Amino acid sequence: MTDAELLAAAREAAATAYAPYSSLRVGAVAVGESGAVYPGANVENAAFPSTLCAEAVAIGHAVASGERRLRAVAVISPDVQSIFPCGQCRQRMAEFQVERVILEGPDGGPESHLLEELLPGRFTDWR
Ligand code: THU
Repeated sequence: MTDAELLAAAREAAATAYAPYSSLRVGAVAVGESGAVYPGANVENAAFPSTLCAEAVAIGHAVASGERRLRAVAVISPDVQSIFPCGQCRQRMAEFQVERVILEGPDGGPESHLLEELLPGRFTDWR
């Protein structure tokens, strides 16, 4: 899939968001080493910190499907012009060696970022 197609798939995933508290729908897809694409959307909770980000759901979806290495994650929100992954989700991406993060650029097209740029000096396995 092209970056534009991945972003479109993430936008489609955002339609399944459960976001009654923030009204910010977020969609994501994780691309496994196999090339398979796993969608996810944010899942909020009345106890706010129990909320799951779209990226967390997509990554969980991929890992629970057997993936152990992820090539890329695409993230988008139909409710804001551009959304960057939160710090926790960047760390979740690092765990599975995500290389690229695909976001919506100012022109509405895909914009690719290296995770290394978004999370320099990441915490890694210390053993
Ligand atoms: N959210 C995501 O899904 N991904 C992010 O990277 C940032 C924030 C969601 C969580 C919550 O449901 C809403 O956006 C507002 O924070």
